[in-house]
Amino acid sequence: MTQPSRPQDSRAALASFVTNRLGRANAARPEPATQTRKPVQSENQSFEKLTGYRELRLQRSAADLIGLNNPFFRVHESRAAATTRIEGKTFANYSSYDYLGLNGHPAVSGAARKAIETYGTSASASRLVAGERPVHLKLEQALASHYETEACVVMVSGHATNVTTIGAILEPADVIFHDALIHNSVVTGAQLSGAQRRSFAHNDPAALEKLLEATRHEHRRALIVIEGLYSMDGDAPDLAAFVELKRRYDCWLMVDDAHGLGVLGRTGAGLHEHCGVDAADIDIWMGTLSKTLSSCGGYVCGPAVLVEYLKCTAGGFLYSVGMSPPLAAAAEAALSALHAEPERVERLRRNGNLFLAGAKKRGLNTGTSLGLAVIPVIVGDSLKAVTLSDRLFKRGINVQPIIHPAVPERSSRLRFFMTSEHTPEQIAETVAAVADELAALETGATLIEQLMARRGA
Ligand SMILES: Cc1ncc(COP(=O)(O)O)c(C=O)c1O
Repeated sequence: MTQPSRPQDSRAALASFVTNRLGRANAARPEPATQTRKPVQSENQSFEKLTGYRELRLQRSAADLIGLNNPFFRVHESRAAATTRIEGKTFANYSSYDYLGLNGHPAVSGAARKAIETYGTSASASRLVAGERPVHLKLEQALASHYETEACVVMVSGHATNVTTIGAILEPADVIFHDALIHNSVVTGAQLSGAQRRSFAHNDPAALEKLLEATRHEHRRALIVIEGLYSMDGDAPDLAAFVELKRRYDCWLMVDDAHGLGVLGRTGAGLHEHCGVDAADIDIWMGTLSKTLSSCGGYVCGPAVLVEYLKCTAGGFLYSVGMSPPLAAAAEAALSALHAEPERVERLRRNGNLFLAGAKKRGLNTGTSLGLAVIPVIVGDSLKAVTLSDRLFKRGINVQPIIHPAVPERSSRLRFFMTSEHTPEQIAETVAAVADELAALETGATLIEQLMARRGA
């Protein structure tokens, strides 16, 4: 077998081999379980022609070719906490947003059960018409009081909350400045609004200042959006510096604290506590209920006028059903548990610090992670990340690879979500397994070589 000599030759060989394989009856695609029927479509209208679909098939086929299991859409057969059950086996789990172990907390499950008994499982209408329930208002009051804002609105999805909020408050004459690593939902909201969109280097207020200096005067209203704890890197911005800029350049500042609530600050209050900044200095506090609050949905906390405006004009609220009552009740109970049991936040911090220190000692690249709820181990290209995740899975450790396009191709990684419920033994065993498997991967045959060897077989 001839070995490709240059990396670009290897890539080309891989691409052409995969393309050939794709040509053969879509070998990586699972067969439908039963006989199905499809509408007749012209070549042009075929869903397989959708932009991005072919790249998706290429990635799946490449993994299939070198014998990797698909790490995505795995079915968890239990509550996914510090451990989980997949295909009947128990795994150490690092893939759950349940940072404080509140999913399944007796008070949280009890509140959800009680709400089902009283209201059933659905609000059965948009809140504006007939979907308003006491649990919605109780949750909104609790969140507003957490951030010490005048009001709050909750919506059925965190993603939709960003899209519809940004889409409702900005117009084409406006501008949005956002961190380069901002969540997809913020970008989608900006696109919906028609406002000019400008991104600045990650966690770099000086880069934002340059942009503001050069362009702020060209636009009417301006919104700056940053996150609390960044979900791919596990780092946090210097909030005071952004507050200073928003004041100087007359902008609104919005913080998406999806991963910061329950994690950042001594009591887990969020980014403001972590940075020692008054929560009232931020115009819009956004967050999701799907992380620490072990529910589903999103919230915006801020001035009463903003909340009133969103409740009456934002399409994602107005034209969408009210949040399912048990989910609203669960989120409110989880927020109370966060306030009542701050020791969970401390345990999470200890676990994250332990993992980070161990990983650094073994020479793993954890980037700029603070060592709290999110710790990446950056390994390089996507195939390497998927292979490492696969090898760990075979050793009873479930951690997701994060690959291009979610992160740049050369910074593909395993992302470890920590919880307050991991044990020191689990953490020590995991760090050792990651370091050993990565070392073995780096000294063994390259993935391209493995692929070519299979091809020759
Ligand atoms: C920063 C950020 N914002 C918004 C969302 C969307 O939230 P949800 O998954 O609850 O819809 C996510 C999702 O993970 C996120 O990481």
